Amino acid sequence: MAAVGSAVGLGNIWGFPFRLGAGGGFAFLLVYLILVVFVGYVVMLGELTIGRKTGKSTVHAYVELSKKYKAIGFMGIVSGFCILAFYSVLGGYVMKYMFGFLMEMFRGDNFGGMSSGEYFDNFLGNVGQGTLWFVVFQAITILIVMGGVAGGIEKFCKIAMPALVVMLVIVIIRSVTLPGATEGLAFMFKPDFSKLATFSDFMGVLRSAAGQMFFSLSLGMGCMITYGSYLSKKESLQFNAMFIPIADTTIAILAGMAVMPAVFALGFEPGRGPGLLFVTLHGVFMSMGGFIGPFFGFFFYLLVTIAAVTSSISLLEVCASYVIDKRIIEGKEPNRRKYTIMIGAAIFVVGLPISLDGLGAGIMPALPESLGWVWLELYDFIAEGVLMPLGALFMSLIVGWVMKKSFGEEVRLEGNKFGTESFVMICAKYITPIAMTFILVTQVMDFFGM
Ligand code: PHE
Repeated sequence: MAAVGSAVGLGNIWGFPFRLGAGGGFAFLLVYLILVVFVGYVVMLGELTIGRKTGKSTVHAYVELSKKYKAIGFMGIVSGFCILAFYSVLGGYVMKYMFGFLMEMFRGDNFGGMSSGEYFDNFLGNVGQGTLWFVVFQAITILIVMGGVAGGIEKFCKIAMPALVVMLVIVIIRSVTLPGATEGLAFMFKPDFSKLATFSDFMGVLRSAAGQMFFSLSLGMGCMITYGSYLSKKESLQFNAMFIPIADTTIAILAGMAVMPAVFALGFEPGRGPGLLFVTLHGVFMSMGGFIGPFFGFFFYLLVTIAAVTSSISLLEVCASYVIDKRIIEGKEPNRRKYTIMIGAAIFVVGLPISLDGLGAGIMPALPESLGWVWLELYDFIAEGVLMPLGALFMSLIVGWVMKKSFGEEVRLEGNKFGTESFVMICAKYITPIAMTFILVTQVMDFFGM
């Protein structure tokens, strides 16, 4: 459940719908599901197994396998850093909406008469406010990790996750009953291969779906290695590696069904980009009218905040546990508080350009026009676009070509079943490495405009 808490977060609720919109709906969904089965499941099982076998967190787990692999663990820490930087900015946006709907419940002035787009742009342009919420979100994450109470979060997840599902279902019901909503469902579920017609279209969708998959499943950066290290030998790794992606993907699809029909019904542009969730759902809640709209809006964003916090603590934990484990190994005082605050402060500095950029509406210099990126997407590109596929590539090579039989032995401990062994081994040896190489090569070519 704690791993599900890490996986389910802004990746599902914010990332999935906007990338689905940009990737042509059905085409993206199809490629995403194929990737989850052939890459996600394999990498998830690989990470959980390496974690449990070594009993260590990311860098140290790789070192235990061989000193040569240390750099792979470090890449994960850099990914965690980049992700947490933009994650906290977005988490701040979510909290701002939570607060906005709370105020609206009492004020009831229709957000000062602003449309959902105006309200969002207005907030983005106000970088002081954006930065304030970024700091609040980060402070919550730091306090929880510092207190070492992350374990208690699991109990919390058991209530918050089902509550989030119920809330999503409520939003879906409202969204699909808006006039014109069926077009959004058709966009998602009606087979349409035109978006995959050319090789470059296909590669575009593949890259975006792969990045989204790593991000959403918390893979390719060692987070699941850390969680795997806490699993007992009795637990079925195979079951966990299936359960986490299924739960995560179900919630992502529900979020897609909450957002997409409303995008079409309310006349937004599906490819609008990172602001899609905020602008669209604002419209959905306001269409509920009166007190009830802001009331549901508040609860929805409260639950999304909780889901985001259970993910951000896992990100910070990966970075912090590396330093803490290192000090323990060196025989020094671990000093959890001190190092968590220091890392948190470093992430604040790294994340500041993103919050000052306000998705392009703020005061940061725009990134080169040819790249067409906002600062958030640059960080996202470094982590999801490059480091995570690279991490997955190396990890699957290690599983398929180095660990080989010993991998299966770990999975089968205590009489556990491993019926998917041949599938996993074929994927780890060939399919995952080939897919990741493809993605990385086209990513680099794209970057240099080739
Ligand atoms: N999976 C989380 C989400 O979807 C984000 C995350 C990525 C958490 C990587 C930990 C590690 O929101």
